[in-house]
Amino acid sequence: MADYKGTYYITTPIYYPSAKLHIGHTYCTVMTDAMARFKRLQGYDVMFLTGTDEHGQKIQSKAIAAGVSPQEYVDEIVVGIKKLWATMEISYDDFIRTTEPRHMERAQKIWQRMYDKGDIYKGAYEGLYCKECESFWTESQLVNGCCPDCGRPVERASEEAYFFKLSKYADKILKLYDEHPEFLEPETRRNEMRSFIEQGLDDLCVSRCTFDWGVPVPNDPKHVMYVWIDALSNYVTALGGPDSCEKYDKYWPADVHLVGKEIVRFHSIIWPAMLMSADIPLPKQVRGHGWLLLGGEKVSKSKAAKGQDVIDPVVLIDRYGIDALKYFLLREYTFGQDGSFTNEVMLKRMNFDLANDLGNLLSRTVSMIVKYNGGKVPEATTEDDIDRDLIAIATGAAAKVEDKMNDFQFNYALDEIWAIIRRANKYIDEKMPWALAKDESKKAELDTVLRNLVEALRIVSILIIPFMHTTSDRMRDQLGISDVEALWADTFDFYKMSGAVVHKGDILFPRLDIEKELEALWAIPKA
Ligand code: MSP
Repeated sequence: MADYKGTYYITTPIYYPSAKLHIGHTYCTVMTDAMARFKRLQGYDVMFLTGTDEHGQKIQSKAIAAGVSPQEYVDEIVVGIKKLWATMEISYDDFIRTTEPRHMERAQKIWQRMYDKGDIYKGAYEGLYCKECESFWTESQLVNGCCPDCGRPVERASEEAYFFKLSKYADKILKLYDEHPEFLEPETRRNEMRSFIEQGLDDLCVSRCTFDWGVPVPNDPKHVMYVWIDALSNYVTALGGPDSCEKYDKYWPADVHLVGKEIVRFHSIIWPAMLMSADIPLPKQVRGHGWLLLGGEKVSKSKAAKGQDVIDPVVLIDRYGIDALKYFLLREYTFGQDGSFTNEVMLKRMNFDLANDLGNLLSRTVSMIVKYNGGKVPEATTEDDIDRDLIAIATGAAAKVEDKMNDFQFNYALDEIWAIIRRANKYIDEKMPWALAKDESKKAELDTVLRNLVEALRIVSILIIPFMHTTSDRMRDQLGISDVEALWADTFDFYKMSGAVVHKGDILFPRLDIEKELEALWAIPKA
């Protein structure tokens, strides 16, 4: 067991159950899962929350079109979402649905607190509304007359509504960014939000009465809460807040809300304003990630049919496995930036990094120990500069990985781990154990080489746990250390494997014939 480091509360956005989730949604959840697993490994008591955002006009319209009730409609999609996360072994601790009574009651309490503060008042709303994004926009925010987020046409809407005095909190939020710049990362997003606020914040329309699929407004049930007020509350309601209770007191405020860049605005302006109004402490951080793009545009279900690339995570997992897909998503993209998704880039990553670099290193090492030492991990009794270099890289990696992870730089964290793998592969080429094995007088040197390789792999097997825990287990099995607890602290020391016996297992990642795979993927119907 690692030393207890405190609590760590991390969240994904709650997904709209309006269509099957695609690789873009998976990206966000995979990052959150990796961070949750990393923090657990470090000794934190982690609370990882995900869920679904089930109210709103769009869902109601879709349900009507499908001839079912909104609840039936979302229930079916949520089953699929939960199944996807189970397939991907996502380690969430709770899954909140905004249609659950535990959420609805508590969201009403948050509303009531804002109302009691005098921050919610009744008025009439006139504006341009995007049904798809459930957002009102001003004329100047439109892009070519359409919604700036999704590009769909907006419609003029007018209704009696409640308003939240968002404008009252503009200065307080700017002050928050000044005093706690870490509240919103990366910096580019903070600058965007700052100028958004500086252009002037209007009060926010926070209720609707033209449809009823939502959380009823306390004491005025012909209104339902604006879906974003309802949805954002989930981060508090899932813990049992806003009233004091064990879980809420333990984990709130959240350490980080991980969100896509188009919803940073809601999380870094509306959410802190709601919390300030309701006298609830603010989350420590909001982190905005970029989008996966397909043909230059955000991956989305509607565009999928047009492209040839497969974006359905289930299809990709079926063919390549969970760990290969997770590795690709975490290694390929730079947090905060957009990145292109293509099947070809994915397959190359899987082949080069996983099959060639990692898979080969393990199978070569295990085979050599079996062949030259009957499977028993030997003792190291010699040391030269090349050995020292390998040892320094392997034992120095954890601190670097930790640094990168704390900055959500998953790709650079993985790169630090791959530095060990690359060094170890080069080490084999330099040391040429097959040549040492031919010379009886070089036995001690050969032993050292074999020992150093397994120790480097042992360290890799711990460092990859947050990203690929199944691969870690498979490696540790072949290395003969599956019953030894994988502890982060053991990555700083080198010689830990005395007495272990390795044994050959299945290859970790099969080599893919990229051309063939691309053809097979393109042949799969996408619509
Ligand atoms: N329901 C709201 C969130 C409410 S949180 C209080 C919502 N749902 S969503 O299903 O549309 O999107 C959920 C998350 O998926 C967002 O963070 C969004 O950025 C992310 N992604 C959806 N498509 C994506 C890509 N193509 N690439 C990366 N992330 C993407 O917004």
